[in-house]
Amino acid sequence: MRPLPPLDPPPTDGVLALRRWRPADVPQIAAACVDPEIQRWTLVPAGYEERDARDFLARGDAGWTDGTLASLAVVAVDDPATVLGAVGFGRPDWQTGRAGEAGYWVVPAARGRGVASGGLELLTRWAFGALGLRRLELQVIAGNVASERVAVRAGYRRVGVDTATTKQGEVAVTVFARDAALPLRAVILPSADRPTPAAPVSAPSTARFPRRP
Ligand SMILES: CC(C)(COP(=O)(O)OP(=O)(O)OC[C@H]1O[C@@H](n2cnc3c(N)ncnc32)[C@H](O)[C@@H]1OP(=O)(O)O)[C@@H](O)C(=O)NCCC(=O)NCCS
Repeated sequence: MRPLPPLDPPPTDGVLALRRWRPADVPQIAAACVDPEIQRWTLVPAGYEERDARDFLARGDAGWTDGTLASLAVVAVDDPATVLGAVGFGRPDWQTGRAGEAGYWVVPAARGRGVASGGLELLTRWAFGALGLRRLELQVIAGNVASERVAVRAGYRRVGVDTATTKQGEVAVTVFARDAALPLRAVILPSADRPTPAAPVSAPSTARFPRRP
């Protein structure tokens, strides 16, 4: 396996940027990962503690070195020390150019401002550009309306359904994908499939991360 290249230049849209994790991020990661929504919809361990965050960083470093995992922090360009969220993908197949699966979470205080969709867009462009991958996929647990919207906003299209093993056992997931070769287009779901928001979008605390068109 080949190591992933340095993030040079760091992926950015001028407002958000992706960077490698730092040991100083551990308290922020641990604080985020006890959030009930992150606990409910991702595979982060229950009862998350700082040692889990240190393990997360160690897995990220090992995966970077052997080319099996790209795990990155989403930050604001003007405040790179504050973690807004996490994006990453694992198990890229360098032969076919397909990556196994991407994932993301956003700290509760930064939600509703385009951090996840902007971070996923940056991750995807970097993977397709600097790394030469041709496809990224996402598995969204059924009912995670917010995450489905993030995927669509970041140019992913729904390609199917599957099951996955989670902390809650085996659950239904919706599979999304974005292909480097396909032109970006909005995905219009049939009305019967269109998700109904179960919870209000968290109110933006500032207009710091302008929404993309
Ligand atoms: C899902 C999550 C990552 C969204 O992060 P975010 O930064 O608030 O998302 P964005 O601001 O980029 O929003 C993108 C879209 O999702 C919509 N959205 C965000 N939160 C929503 C919510 N709670 N309900 C309905 N829609 C929501 C936004 O309105 C926006 O829609 P639009 O493109 O139609 O305008 C965040 O809520 C989170 O961390 N959840 C827990 C972890 C998780 O579910 N991870 C994904 C696992 S697959």
